Amino acid sequence: MEERKTKSSRWDPIVKLTHWGVAGLIICNALIVGEGSIAHIYAGYFLAGLLFLRLIWGFVGPTSARFASFPPSPRQALVHIGDLLASKKAPHVSHNPLGALMAYALWACLSVIIASGIAMAGPPPKIAFPTSISEVVQEGEHQSGEQYEEEYEESEADEVFEEAHEIAVNLLYVLIFLHILGVVFETARSGRRTVTSMLPGGK
Ligand code: HEM
Ligand code: HEM
Repeated sequence: MEERKTKSSRWDPIVKLTHWGVAGLIICNALIVGEGSIAHIYAGYFLAGLLFLRLIWGFVGPTSARFASFPPSPRQALVHIGDLLASKKAPHVSHNPLGALMAYALWACLSVIIASGIAMAGPPPKIAFPTSISEVVQEGEHQSGEQYEEEYEESEADEVFEEAHEIAVNLLYVLIFLHILGVVFETARSGRRTVTSMLPGGK
């Protein structure tokens, strides 16, 4: 009965929207658009906006989205590991304590990426709409990541931000790998539909 209640109140539309928006923009910046290109910077600003929305939601959203429902607690995480080893299943309104630590780690890492990215990029670059074919060609060249980087390179502070950006991005990849392992493990262990509960319409 308790388990049913937990299931039906799982993730609300804002949590789902911000999650898949953030995940999509990470994939976009990691694999699709050029490093430091204008598209990368715009995607980065969108990502920052979605993360900001999720963090506000942590104060004003429904119970399962609130930080108060999943405080960061290494002690609780250890208790949870004990439960896992003993094959005990305890219901959680929101993240389990290990999942909670992972969410905070991902948010902290994204915050460093966003702060260092914005420190390098400054305000969102203006996009000038071309009025002729030759401008279209030039614009295409201008928007390549390399050229943008070349134009705006590079103070000593930028080097520090670049290093921070790169380290945090690599850490993010490791966390995402562990996050997905966690999702697979949790699905196998609990038999709950962990993945579909994050999809539109999923409980
Ligand atoms: C495979 C299915 C997946 C499930 C079920 C899942 C589930 C979740 C859940 C429940 C959260 C906590 C959301 C919150 O409290 O706001 C979360 C956070 C997060 N996930 Fe996933 N995830 C999945 C795949 C992915 C993928 C593929 C990526 C990245 C490419 C990713 C990146 C993140 C990030 C960055 C966060 C923290 C930021 C946020 O969205 O709030 N996840 N995930
Ligand atoms: C989580 C999403 C992001 C990923 C996966 C990502 C990934 C990367 C990577 C791999 C690089 C190359 C690092 C290097 O120089 O070795 C880079 C560079 C850069 N990123 Fe991001 N980034 C993300 C978010 C952002 C954000 C939010 C901004 C700013 C709004 C931003 C702005 C930049 C800039 C300006 C550079 C060029 C740095 C240089 O001068 O080399 N990025 N990014």
